[in-house]
Amino acid sequence: MTGIVVLISGRGSNMEALARNIDVQAVVCNVPGAAGVRIAHEMGIECVVEPAMDGIVSILDSLDPGLVCMAGFMRILPSHVTERYSVMNIHPSLLPLFSGLHAQRQAVEDGGVKYSGCTVHMADAGVDTGGIILQDAVPVMPGDTEDTLSDRIILKEHEAYVRAVRLFLARNDIGASEPGGSRFDGAGKAAEFAVGCGKVAYLWNSGGDTFAVSERRRPENTPYVVSVPGDDAGVVSARLRNMVDW
Ligand code: GRF
Repeated sequence: MTGIVVLISGRGSNMEALARNIDVQAVVCNVPGAAGVRIAHEMGIECVVEPAMDGIVSILDSLDPGLVCMAGFMRILPSHVTERYSVMNIHPSLLPLFSGLHAQRQAVEDGGVKYSGCTVHMADAGVDTGGIILQDAVPVMPGDTEDTLSDRIILKEHEAYVRAVRLFLARNDIGASEPGGSRFDGAGKAAEFAVGCGKVAYLWNSGGDTFAVSERRRPENTPYVVSVPGDDAGVVSARLRNMVDW
């Protein structure tokens, strides 16, 4: 089980945020013509459109992903899928408040809440249930509409989802095979992540100013440096910048 598969139904902005920061193996969309399909194609990510749940399950079984990320995927996965795979979801409220559809509208219409936000959680066969990985808060302002609140929450969603997947990768090392690894723009960010793992980690250049980090596997075909517990991120970043330029 390796790789990350993202399931979408619509706009695809969370999928895009994930794919810009983390190696995404494939995108599956259940809605033909959804905007996210075009984004995935433009980013060069394999993207399959499959409306039927049976078909989606077959695709997942053929890819055998280490992590499935639902990102605005408007269907409930059958329990045998959530039991077989690690599945994450993002929801635009501070669960358990405002679960289900139109979470931002629910927050605005509540009239009393001062904060809403977003939640990344593991998915089970329920609606917006499953263990919470992390949350981020967003103030609800006087005069907010569903749209204005949604516009602020979605920005936090993009950050939160990337952070949650990185946490998962750091715990499970599923992004570790070449050409994967968790990828970062710039040596500094890669070094910070590697140091944050608190373990021995391998770091290498995966093209341009992008660097990959893996906790367990060494890359086989490219130079790499290590970070070790106790290392300073500045030292690790200096090692990366000092690698041979092959
Ligand atoms: C997001 O608000 C997400 O939390 C919810 O659906 C929306 C999807 O937006 N589940 P996008 O397709 O990722 O832009």
